[in-house]
Order: sequence, then C-alpha cells, then structure tokens
Amino acid sequence: MRAWMLIAVVMLAAVGGVGTVMADSIVGSRHDLSHFNQRGYGGSPSGPMQGFTFNDYREACVYCHTPHNGSPVAPLWNRNLSDPEGYQMYSSPNFDSKPGNAPDGISLACLSCHDGTVAVDDIRNKPQFHGWADSQVHYKMDYMDQNRGSQSCAKCHSRWGGGIGGVNAAHDASVRYLTQDLRDDHPISMAFPSKRVDPQFHQPTVSKDDGGRAFENGIQTYEGDKVQCATCHDIHNPDEDNSEGRDPFLRVSNQGSALCLTCHEK
Ligand code: HEC
Ligand code: HEC
Ligand code: HEC
Ligand code: HEC
Ligand code: HEC
Repeated sequence: MRAWMLIAVVMLAAVGGVGTVMADSIVGSRHDLSHFNQRGYGGSPSGPMQGFTFNDYREACVYCHTPHNGSPVAPLWNRNLSDPEGYQMYSSPNFDSKPGNAPDGISLACLSCHDGTVAVDDIRNKPQFHGWADSQVHYKMDYMDQNRGSQSCAKCHSRWGGGIGGVNAAHDASVRYLTQDLRDDHPISMAFPSKRVDPQFHQPTVSKDDGGRAFENGIQTYEGDKVQCATCHDIHNPDEDNSEGRDPFLRVSNQGSALCLTCHEK
C-alpha cells in the first residue's frame, strides 16, 4: 500500500462509524476487534465480547499496529508474539524445500492470534488516550475440547460452546483456531522451489524489496523467497461480499482452485 492509501484508510476509519462494513477494508470486518459486539448484535455496542472477554481499545488498527516502537516482524507491529519454539511444522517425504523447525517472518504475526497462545488484546503499546478500561480478562483464540476451560474464546465459539443453541448462540470458530500444531495446515516458512529443483511449480516474476517475489495476481513470497500466511491472505481485505461468494481474506479467489494453481502446476 502506498502512503496516500494509508491516509485514505485512516480517514475511512475515522468517518466509518459504528455498524458499517466497508468493502475492501479491515474496518468492520472479522479483523476489527473494536467491532465484534456490533457484528454479533446487529449494530448494538453491547454484547458478550469487548470489555467482557478482552480490552476494548476503541481502535481497529491498534490490535496489530503502533505508530512507534513496533516489532519488525510486520509493518509497525504492535502485538506480543508467541514463543517460536512451541510449534510442530508440516513435513513430507516429497518435499523439495523443507520448512525449518519453527515459523518465521510475517507468519508469526498471524500466529500471535491464531495459535491461541497470546491473548487477542496482548499488545506492546496500549493507547494512552480514549478512556478505555482494563477488562481484567484477556481471552485467547484457544482451541478447546470438552475438558478445557478458562479464558478461551472457544468457551462460546466451539462445538461445546456455552452459548451454542441457547439465547447467546455463538458460531463454532474452531476451524479458525490453528493451534501450534501446523502439521495439518498448508506448509509455511519454506523457500519457494526454483524451476530446476521442482519443475511442477510456476515461478513468480515480479521482484520485491524484501527479496521476495510476486505473481501478477498478487500472490507473493516474502524475505528469503518464503511462502508465509500473507502469501495467500491479504489481511486487510475481507472479501465478504464479492461476486464469486466468500473468499476469506484471500489475495485471489480460489474459485476453480485458481489460488492453488497460481503456484502448483498440477
Ligand atoms: C489483524 C491485524 C491487523 C490489523 C487490525 C490491521 N493491520 Fe495493517 N497490516 C497487518 C499485517 C499482517 C500487515 C503486513 C501485510 C503484508 O506485508 O502482506 C499490515 C500492513 C499494513 C500496512 C503496510 C502496507 C501494506 O499493505 O502492506 C499499512 C499501511 C497498514 N497495515 C495499515 C493499517 C491500518 C490503517 C489499520 C487500521 C484501519 C490496519 N492496518 C489494521 C495487520 C493488521
Ligand atoms: C488481533 C488478532 C488477529 C491477528 C493478528 C490475525 N487474525 Fe485472523 N482472525 C482473527 C479473528 C478474531 C478472526 C475471526 C474468528 C471468528 O470468526 O470467530 C479471524 C479470522 C481470520 C480468517 C477467516 C475469515 C473469515 O471470514 O472466515 C482468516 C483467513 C484469517 N483470520 C487470516 C489471518 C492471517 C493470514 C493473519 C496474518 C496476516 C491473521 N489472520 C492475523 C484475529 C486475528
Ligand atoms: C460469552 C460467550 C462468548 C465469548 C467468550 C466470545 N464470544 Fe464472540 N460471539 C459470541 C456471540 C453470542 C456472538 C454473536 C453470534 C455469532 O455471530 O456467533 C459472537 C460473535 C463474534 C464475532 C462476529 C461473527 C460474525 O461473523 O459477525 C466474532 C468475530 C467473535 N465473536 C470473535 C470472538 C473472539 C475472538 C473471542 C475471544 C477473544 C470471542 N468472540 C469470545 C459469544 C462469545
Ligand atoms: C497456500 C495458501 C495459504 C496459506 C500459505 C495459508 N492459507 Fe489460510 N486459507 C487458505 C485458503 C484457500 C483458505 C480458504 C479455505 C476455504 O475455502 O474455506 C484459508 C482459510 C483460512 C482460515 C479460515 C478457516 C478455514 O480453514 O477456512 C484461517 C483462519 C486461515 N486461513 C489462516 C491462515 C494462517 C494463520 C496461515 C499461516 C499459518 C495461513 N492461513 C496460510 C490458503 C492459505
Ligand atoms: C505461493 C505458492 C503456493 C500456493 C498459492 C499454494 N501452494 Fe501448495 N505448496 C507450495 C510450496 C512451495 C509447497 C512445498 C512443496 C515442496 O517444496 O515440494 C507446497 C506444498 C503443498 C502440498 C504438500 C505437498 C507434499 O509433498 O506434502 C499440498 C498438498 C499443497 N501444497 C496443496 C495446495 C493447495 C490445495 C493450494 C490451494 C489452497 C496450494 N497448495 C496453494 C506453494 C503454494
């Protein structure tokens, strides 16, 4: 994104107000933590989440970005990260380019919410103004089976969730809680194989500043030419109402497996 686009995004955020979901914007989307109660409760700010399960900082961007003293893992990154030692990585006998023992780069940014080890409101720099209050509870996107409890979003958002079927019925979000066991997820944090190493891959053609490469359609690798979560996902673009149906934060629609076939020659 260029600087003028950032300004446009910030201005949209300022005028957007409560209850709006803007096309192509993170504001009002499932990545806008200042908005969950409103999403769940038809525009009403009171619901079971913000202020009851995590701090409502009243800003969309602050859960991920800070204007100062950010972490270099992603642009001006404001989140405390998971311990990279705790993961189990995908592996396969057919692999040409093996992932290391731990995720790295921008994937760590995603996993700081999606692996369930760090509370969603656990940020480096909390806003100093806007009069928010500490809720004293800090839930994680922790996958939960019947026998686990405590401060987990899955207390409601799972098959066994307290609210399921009741007045406060909550959707089952288990599939979005990846855990630290990444053996059942598309491999990440491994270099893209060259044509010589594996002829069954199309090669990205556009060079990027960080040493990664991109395809014309936006699918891209990152530092070290690595595949990361943000290779396939565009975090700011929810695509909830596009003409092809829903494509959750994807850079390219996967209709007809278009996303997969960008890389795989199968
Ligand atoms: C859920 C986490 C999250 C939230 C919330 C979020 N961002 Fe981001 N943002 C990211 C990540 C991750 C990247 C890196 C994306 C990449 O390199 O592919 C990023 C990158 C950026 C960039 C760098 C340019 C780019 O697009 O790569 C800008 C500018 C930006 N975000 C602005 C914002 C603004 C403004 C808001 C609030 C309206 C916001 N972001 C909210 C996660 C978030
Ligand atoms: C601040 C916490 C946070 C961060 C950081 C974060 N996410 Fe999410 N993400 C969420 C939440 C919360 C949801 C919605 C869960 C639910 O539906 O209950 C979500 C949902 C999603 C979904 C499903 C959306 C849908 O509509 O079905 C995708 C895909 C996703 N995230 C990808 C990513 C990627 C890729 C990154 C890193 C670039 C990332 N997320 C970083 C909190 C986060
Ligand atoms: C006390 C039960 C409860 C807890 C705990 C809870 N939620 Fe919810 N959540 C709900 C209910 C009820 C709704 C509204 C119905 C729905 O959309 O599932 C909702 C809605 C949502 C939505 C909007 C879904 C949509 O598609 O518009 C998101 C996103 C969400 N919750 C994320 C979270 C996250 C992340 C956590 C943990 C930090 C969490 N919730 C904790 C009960 C809960
Ligand atoms: C190779 C491409 C690719 C990579 C890499 C990738 N994803 Fe996805 N992801 C997808 C596709 C495609 C979907 C949509 C699946 C569907 O149709 O429901 C998806 C769905 C999701 C969802 C929604 C839950 C679901 O299964 O539908 C979440 C959350 C998510 N991804 C997070 C991540 C995170 C976090 C990472 C990095 C650890 C990551 N993704 C890496 C392609 C990818
Ligand atoms: C950015 C390019 C890219 C995209 C997009 C992509 N993949 Fe991959 N995929 C890879 C790379 C690189 C590997 C590692 C393979 C290797 O090094 O041999 C891989 C590995 C795999 C493997 C494991 C192969 C094995 O030997 O165990 C499967 C299965 C797979 N991808 C399926 C998919 C599917 C399905 C999609 C679409 C949802 C997809 N991929 C999208 C690049 C991509």
